[in-house]
Amino acid sequence: MEMGCRKPNAASLSMSEHRTKRLKPNAAGIAEAADILRAGGLVAFPTETVYGLGADARNGAAVARIFAAKGRPSFNPLIVHVADIEMAERYGIIEGAARDMVEEFWPDAFSIVVPLRENADLSPLVTAGLSSVALRMPKEEVALGLLRAFGGPVAAPSANPSGKISATTADHVLRGLDGRIDAVLDGGPTRVGLESTIIGFLGDRPTLLREGAFHPGLIDMWVETSFEDVPTAPGQMASHYAPKASIRLNATEARASEFLLGFGPIKGDLSLSPDGDLGAAAANLYAMFHEADARGVKRLAVAPVPYEGIGRAINDRLRRAAAPRP
Ligand code: TXA
Ligand code: MG
Repeated sequence: MEMGCRKPNAASLSMSEHRTKRLKPNAAGIAEAADILRAGGLVAFPTETVYGLGADARNGAAVARIFAAKGRPSFNPLIVHVADIEMAERYGIIEGAARDMVEEFWPDAFSIVVPLRENADLSPLVTAGLSSVALRMPKEEVALGLLRAFGGPVAAPSANPSGKISATTADHVLRGLDGRIDAVLDGGPTRVGLESTIIGFLGDRPTLLREGAFHPGLIDMWVETSFEDVPTAPGQMASHYAPKASIRLNATEARASEFLLGFGPIKGDLSLSPDGDLGAAAANLYAMFHEADARGVKRLAVAPVPYEGIGRAINDRLRRAAAPRP
């Protein structure tokens, strides 16, 4: 084909030259990942919930690269990942119920939103200009190893293009972001499979901002809220976590040309959990959405999942996946 004198533009050139490296989740891989963060690069890494796309939260250029790689709107703030409570306190004011909660439960699969500390050394892009900050100490050895090796705050949204399905394996990360990020630490499939629960500590009472992986039984000890009155975190667009297929919820059988994700007694083409185990369903949900995409499924139907325990977070994600697309 005659390409004439049309020169490839700089963006496409650097994109094709730039390969995403897959790092092993051992000391050498973690050290290399920490070096990439120090140099202002982007590294995806496993947490117990989903893979995060990390950058040095103090480095504005690095944080800007996260927004560019994901196509994420800049009004949507990022969670700052920390190695321990002391590190968290450099960025947020952690008092009262927030302090009790992190002292009792960290590390675990929840994030706290607290007032941003004045003069906190964070890029304003991380908090999208808000006067609060989301902080999280993940319960996963590779993530904690990276945070300790790096020794600083890591801004990390889920490692997927904005609005798409979160990644629960390194392959999912590469499917969405290959060539757009420097490396992925491959720690295998994530244990929990749904994002952290987000709890706000800004008013008189703690508020549940996002249903998530931290067990609602424990949450109810701290936050009295009903499923219906959950306010939304700024980035929780109605349509989110969506596969390419359209989605019909609470399906007891597949209609013509539908691909059915079963649960318990409803068998389906694939099952979130044949035994009706909600933890297994949470761990499988995104992988099965990715699988449906890979198989070119156009119409997806999903069996009912009970609103108990982590089933609340599963139903939250299913509703958003099924919401009208922009
Ligand atoms: O499990 C997780 O939380 C994963 C892993 C990687 O840690 N991260 C994650 O990040 O799910 P992301 O960016 O996909 O979702 C973070 C949510 C967004 O809805 C964002 O709007 C909200 O947290 N958020 C961040 N800072 C906030 C703040 N100051 N106030 C309220 N919501 C905030
Ligand atoms: Mg996300």
